[in-house]
Amino acid sequence: MIILAIETSCDDTGISIIKLQSSKKKRGQINFSDFEILSDCVSSQAEIHSPYGGVFPALAKREHQKALLPLLIKSLKNSKLLKENKKGVDNKKILRVQKILKRNPEIFKGLKEFLKKYSVPEINGIAVTVGPGLEPCLYTGVNLAKALSFYWNVPLSGINHIEAHVLSSWLSPIEKIEFPAIALVVSGGNTQIILMENIGKYKLIGETRDDAAGECFDKTARILGLGYPGGPAIHKEAKKRKKAVLGITLPRPMFYDKNYDFSFSGLKTAVLYDLKKRKEGKTPQYVEEMSYEIERAIIDVLTHKTLKAAEDFKAKSIILGGGVSANKELAKEFKKRCKEKKINCIIPLSKFSGDNASMVGLTALFSPHIKKTAWQKIKPSSNLKINEQ
Ligand code: KG4
Repeated sequence: MIILAIETSCDDTGISIIKLQSSKKKRGQINFSDFEILSDCVSSQAEIHSPYGGVFPALAKREHQKALLPLLIKSLKNSKLLKENKKGVDNKKILRVQKILKRNPEIFKGLKEFLKKYSVPEINGIAVTVGPGLEPCLYTGVNLAKALSFYWNVPLSGINHIEAHVLSSWLSPIEKIEFPAIALVVSGGNTQIILMENIGKYKLIGETRDDAAGECFDKTARILGLGYPGGPAIHKEAKKRKKAVLGITLPRPMFYDKNYDFSFSGLKTAVLYDLKKRKEGKTPQYVEEMSYEIERAIIDVLTHKTLKAAEDFKAKSIILGGGVSANKELAKEFKKRCKEKKINCIIPLSKFSGDNASMVGLTALFSPHIKKTAWQKIKPSSNLKINEQ
């Protein structure tokens, strides 16, 4: 079985083709040897959004529209599934495709040519991220997925972006994961703690009440003049710090609260107030020390709350996912504390921590609750929750 997966929830356009090797997959169980990633193509918009210090939705939609068809061609070619069309096109169906893509005329124009040139690839299904995410971006990927599903006559599955991040660790070989597990999804748009009884069985037990952890990295990096994405930029500066001489201390928001929620917007304000107090302004020493303290504050809160949840729910594993899980200090701290508590610590490869379509395809293949649906029934939902399925 071969699945074409599409991811456009934020500022990365991803198309991946993933193949199930054996026909006997066990429901709710992922074995690395059971599937093969035939191609994994991602186009990042980071540079385009850099001047804004965050993702600008209208711009992100425009960039997805530009990137989707070239990525589709590239991934089909890499997977040896791109074949010339010798039969011509069905003009009646093309009219319907035009209707499906009425809000994405640029994609329609390219797709019409694509469908004329290339035949129906040998795939068994399409998977697309339906939420959570930025609405204009989600619609772009979903509309293309619907058009392809209709024209090629292959079923479509709508995938929850958060579930895909939770499962992204399985894209590389890992030891068998023991359940129950606590998953922490930390990205630019989400910070959530999820109790996971098994693959496909989730309960959202905590989330941010305002900014996500990645958003906090991005906003504080902007204050410090470090560009976007903020997480890697802050980490780079924090690593340069040798000695703390400026006495910078930031709060650890909601650290002692008896719940699993987070709040990161106060950190950004605290950075702004601290900077206002400094006559010297943003000296290199200040930027390094402040970056160190920002990274520490975020890591302290994320590890404390996640480990608390793991202890309270007697979790045997902690699973990380999302762009922020690429942070080396965060990974180090989680590994150390999980070892102390004898909890299995699972972190995705950094190439799969950020948004990618392989995790979407993997979820479609292995999550037991995912159904192939008629394309007409698929609709994006920007605030989709993991336990709403
Ligand atoms: O999952 P992702 O690629 O996109 C979504 O937001 O859905 O996550 C992007 C976020 C950005 O906020 C970025 O600053 C953060 O992940 N990030 C990092 C690192 N790499 C990316 N944060 C901390 N350390 C990193 N190494």
